[in-house]
Amino acid sequence: MGALSLFSKIASTYDLTNRILSFGMDLRWRKKLVLETKNYKPNAEKILDLACGTGDVIKITKDLFLEKVYYVGLDPCGEMLNIARNRLGKKVSLIRGLAENLPFKGETFDAIFISFGLRNFSDRKKALDEIHRILRPKGVVSVLEFTKPNGKYSLSKLGWLYTKYAVPALGGVISGNFEAYRYLSRSIENFPSADKVVEEFSNTGFKPLKVKSLSPSPSVLFIFEKKLRGSPKT
Ligand SMILES: C[S@@+](CC[C@H](N)C(=O)[O-])C[C@H]1O[C@@H](n2cnc3c(N)ncnc32)[C@H](O)[C@@H]1O
Repeated sequence: MGALSLFSKIASTYDLTNRILSFGMDLRWRKKLVLETKNYKPNAEKILDLACGTGDVIKITKDLFLEKVYYVGLDPCGEMLNIARNRLGKKVSLIRGLAENLPFKGETFDAIFISFGLRNFSDRKKALDEIHRILRPKGVVSVLEFTKPNGKYSLSKLGWLYTKYAVPALGGVISGNFEAYRYLSRSIENFPSADKVVEEFSNTGFKPLKVKSLSPSPSVLFIFEKKLRGSPKT
């Protein structure tokens, strides 16, 4: 079964499962993502939440940025988007689509969020090129993602073991779908280290502004700024 149909099967229990499995911390991580981005782009006018799922990040962004900001959420999963639509109302534009082929003109957005979406993209290189294309010059892309910690005995390592072994079992029980949560574990295992993520973004024309571990969780917050193509690598 493909990853997309797995997301459609767990959409109705997705938020509850996140809250329980992260002991409520997942909302704090998303809030951090938004606040740190606001430090770099306080006057953002257009923001895209890429792989928006049920719309948690847009909900938080709406509360923390000014009302006049134009928000767009994009996700390929109709079931996830239905939940986002009920929650966010008609003012937020929600679009069904893929990160690898974004339906926007070049230089449209000041900021793009990707919260736990990057590891699901089937062609990350293509998606990064698309993100670079639709960001305005000096626009930022802020990413939250689970990565395998380097340190042997770090708190993040404990969090990673919990995410790899306990989350698939508990997530399976809560959602009733063990396959989807086994996929989660595999996708984390297969995702590159934080250093490699920075390398991939740098090679696509982004400058890293912030890389921060959200220990004890194995998630990392990355913020990158779009460089103009042709400017020297950092
Ligand atoms: C783990 S959920 C994250 C949802 C949300 N951003 C959050 O913070 O809860 C991953 C999302 O990525 C979406 N997704 C999967 N493949 C994608 C792709 N190629 N392009 C865009 N989104 C994708 C899924 O439909 C799913 O909603």
